[in-house]
Amino acid sequence: MRYQGLLQTYKEYLPVTDKTPMLTLQEGNTPLVRAENLSQELGLDLYFKYEGLNPTGSFKDRGMVMAVAKAVEEGSRTIMCASTGNTSAAAAAYAARLGLNCIVLIPNNNIALGKLAQAMIYGAKVIAIEGNFDRALEIVREITAKHPITLVNSVNPYRIEGQKTAAFEVCDQLGEAPDVLAIPVGNAGNISAYWKGFKEYHAKGKISSLPRMVGFEAEGAMAIVKGEPILEPETVATAIRIGNPASWKTAVAAAEESSGQINYVRDEEILSAYRTIASREGIFAEPASAASVAGVYKLKREGYFKGGEKVVCVLTGHGLKDPNIAIKSIGAEPLVVQDSEEAVMAAIAKLEGN
Ligand code: F0G
Repeated sequence: MRYQGLLQTYKEYLPVTDKTPMLTLQEGNTPLVRAENLSQELGLDLYFKYEGLNPTGSFKDRGMVMAVAKAVEEGSRTIMCASTGNTSAAAAAYAARLGLNCIVLIPNNNIALGKLAQAMIYGAKVIAIEGNFDRALEIVREITAKHPITLVNSVNPYRIEGQKTAAFEVCDQLGEAPDVLAIPVGNAGNISAYWKGFKEYHAKGKISSLPRMVGFEAEGAMAIVKGEPILEPETVATAIRIGNPASWKTAVAAAEESSGQINYVRDEEILSAYRTIASREGIFAEPASAASVAGVYKLKREGYFKGGEKVVCVLTGHGLKDPNIAIKSIGAEPLVVQDSEEAVMAAIAKLEGN
């Protein structure tokens, strides 16, 4: 049977009622790809949960389909969010589908080009503030508290409900829970959602063990690791350029309850992992996503693994979201040559010499 979307597939686990619109853009149902080359290199059984293959190219679609469906069920006509880019793309797409108004607040000059293009083409009202994500979220909270506008950031509990389905899929795809779940941490909603999902599947008897949750912030935005908000977060991974994560407490609880940890990775490590998963596994994910893989490399160096563990890295967003960083991080332009066979052969020889 044709895949029915998240709300239908997981309705027994979700706050779906007979009044909830069965909205779907075919979100979820994303592949779990085994990292054949990195598994061998690291001595692990390593997989990527490739969330970049959601309809708007990130895991945000899982939470947004639920949040937007509930907004409509509750009579709302306008949704609003702050975003480093992916949330705004997802909100704009689902709002378009149901004819809702969508307002998004983004940090000026700090969102990837593809994400901006998405929010605009789906028809959201896009407002760029001269401030960072944390400030944008404060403003959205103030406005939505005073006006009949539904807040669709992950402080909306329906977002977490939708996002927890990714944990169900990982377990169904592996036939069990992984030993370790590695995930980037920004506003800290997703790590909280995965942990909720694993615990619910465990309580239902669908899995017999729980994974250790290991979350990775970017070094320049490591509020949880430091134990205090960062006023001016900075990282190449703009998606997780967040200094005061809204789901801080639940993220810490996920790490503690699961005997995992919240750790950090440096920008160079993120970019190195970003290039590695593309050039060695054929998978293009955005820099923030690569924080999970950079984190696994870091844990490996620190002797964290015994060897052979089943590790799932969540690749949260598609690489095409941010084409500028891809070209910049390779540090080379295509070689331009004359349109002749000889010139092309000479160019190949030159590139092979490199
Ligand atoms: N990876 C990507 C690609 C993201 O877009 C985000 C968050 C994260 C990881 C971190 O997830 O916030 O649940 O800890 N992006 C948000 C946004 C903040 O506005 O799109 P988190």
